[in-house]
Amino acid sequence: MNESTNDPVRLARRLLTQTLGAEGDALVLERETRQSLLTSLRASRDAAPAAPSHHGVAAVGRPVAVAVAPTATGVTIEDADIAGAGDLSALAELVSRCSRCELHSTRKQAVFGEGAANARVVCVGEAPGAREDETGRPFVGRAGQLLDRLLRTIGLARESVYICNVLKSRPPNNRDPLPGEVAACSPYLLRQLALIQPEVIIAFGAFASRALLETTSALGRMRGQLHEYAGYPVVVTYHPAALLRNPGWTRPTWEDLQLVRRLLDGDDPNG
Ligand code: URA
Repeated sequence: MNESTNDPVRLARRLLTQTLGAEGDALVLERETRQSLLTSLRASRDAAPAAPSHHGVAAVGRPVAVAVAPTATGVTIEDADIAGAGDLSALAELVSRCSRCELHSTRKQAVFGEGAANARVVCVGEAPGAREDETGRPFVGRAGQLLDRLLRTIGLARESVYICNVLKSRPPNNRDPLPGEVAACSPYLLRQLALIQPEVIIAFGAFASRALLETTSALGRMRGQLHEYAGYPVVVTYHPAALLRNPGWTRPTWEDLQLVRRLLDGDDPNG
């Protein structure tokens, strides 16, 4: 984000801070008045490209202007910092102090992801829930236990794969992630994938699948075929939490995972 003093978002933030400081009616922004600030904000909103929204889901990796706020230590994490993280530990350190979206102010801790750095399979969910927010680990609640069992049906131990989410911070009350939050977080997922170089990604649930594949399609329409994201093959399937509510989806999920198994075995995925 442009840090110049003409940046209307930055100026607006300063205005709010000053108002909060109850310094009376005076506005102490160099060269700016309330009216000029409002005019700049309106102009910047009108000039902004329409936010990509697929029923509230922003596509991961799609370039979207993100207002990047400084971390608590005052350091802004830019896309270039993320792209320059040399390994998963360095990237996790950035995530732990990230404030690129407002979720940093409500989360207990960021949930970066975990697993084998050379995993053949990366599992991608939506966002941390309450248990994940408490523990700092992905998929540790009931849905996580089911995920582990599902992976075992294709001979994969949890420790052998890599597990993460589109969002690294929990949305309050588990609400749907907002497009701006996905846009702010997506460089982390892209970097995770670039560092791990998996043979296949499994997108669990409609949200993760839509975000990765830039579509509004129903999950049922996306299943059963191979997709691609950032050059990696993607298999989509039901989210374990949805399976807990709809046990009838267990069989189709197992079938989707067979597709993953065939890919890993070098067999014809359509066979
Ligand atoms: N649901 C998700 O999508 N991710 C988690 O980490 C836990 C539950």
